[in-house]
Amino acid sequence: MNHLVYIGHQGRGQQWREEFSRQRPDLVFHLGLEGSEGLESHDVRYVVAWQPPKDLIDRFPNLEVLFSLGAGVDHIDLSRMPPAVKLVRMVEPGLRQDMVEYVVWAVLSLKRQIPTYLQQQNQILWKALEGPQALRYRVGVMGLGVLGQAVFRGLQPFDVDLAGWSRTPHSLKGVKCYAGPEALADFLRDTHILVNLLPLTSATHHLVNQAFLELLPAGAVFINAGRGPQVVQQDLLDALDRGHLSHAILDVTDPEPLPASHPLWRHPSVWITPHVAGHSHPNSAAQVVLENIGRHEMGLPMAGLVDRVRGY
Ligand SMILES: NC(=O)c1ccc[n+]([C@@H]2O[C@H](COP(=O)([O-])OP(=O)(O)OC[C@H]3O[C@@H](n4cnc5c(N)ncnc54)[C@H](OP(=O)(O)O)[C@@H]3O)[C@@H](O)[C@H]2O)c1
Repeated sequence: MNHLVYIGHQGRGQQWREEFSRQRPDLVFHLGLEGSEGLESHDVRYVVAWQPPKDLIDRFPNLEVLFSLGAGVDHIDLSRMPPAVKLVRMVEPGLRQDMVEYVVWAVLSLKRQIPTYLQQQNQILWKALEGPQALRYRVGVMGLGVLGQAVFRGLQPFDVDLAGWSRTPHSLKGVKCYAGPEALADFLRDTHILVNLLPLTSATHHLVNQAFLELLPAGAVFINAGRGPQVVQQDLLDALDRGHLSHAILDVTDPEPLPASHPLWRHPSVWITPHVAGHSHPNSAAQVVLENIGRHEMGLPMAGLVDRVRGY
């Protein structure tokens, strides 16, 4: 019999277990690494995990697929995994919808100047600002993958110009698309609200630095729902302090959690959320993994298979 080990939140794992026992009673489901009855390490073909143990391959020498509970796989050390082991990231509708809601909330808050109105409330100041209808915004999204494209669909009903930047060229209805490092400056120059939805790779590490931020128009805002290490945080702080950036909404930081003494916590132009923009939902995520296991067993390509050379 084939075995699967789930390594993650126990409560959500119970929901995964129910879904698996209903649909795949032939697959033995283990919740957690320790004390799981009948766990024979040589029989484990599949692992579902957010943080797999470092000795994963030593423990499970016949592992065929590692399913990440996250859409990003930057925290997984690929160098320790034999090439035959497939790595699959989480592509599922619950997480996608979470991310759409988060980015639409953030963009509309900025478009409607809510940060300034909250500051005015602190000063007991009743003062209408020039209406958002009088201003023309362009929302630029970095990363035109599963999440970036879903976010565009979420933003389409609102009166904003949309642009996107990716590694390879894309053509998306209603979106001005840019591709590659050579197009980055043109993309940033006209972007008022910048949304980061890039995977963390060697090419995107510290991408958002001083030179990058200088390319944005004065008063631009930054929403980071990608990964913290993509940003040089001191350069971001400097840009906010100088007023070159007017606001930042950060769902991810480096490190996480951000130390209590870090100036970003108390910066008047920064909102922070604790890496909650998108989480996998147990039922829909389990369904996607079940379908992927079925595809793997039939020798078909799985949805969300990570390209090890690209790193995402
Ligand atoms: N904050 C949260 O709670 C949360 C939740 C989920 C995910 N995330 C983050 O969101 C990321 C994106 O997820 P996804 O599912 O949309 O990934 P995806 O489908 O793999 O899409 C990645 C996109 O990034 C582009 N890209 C990659 N490297 C690039 C580079 N060097 N320059 C320009 N563009 C580059 C890709 O370009 P091509 O299209 O040309 O390949 C692609 O469009 C994840 O990796 C994760 O870090 C955060």
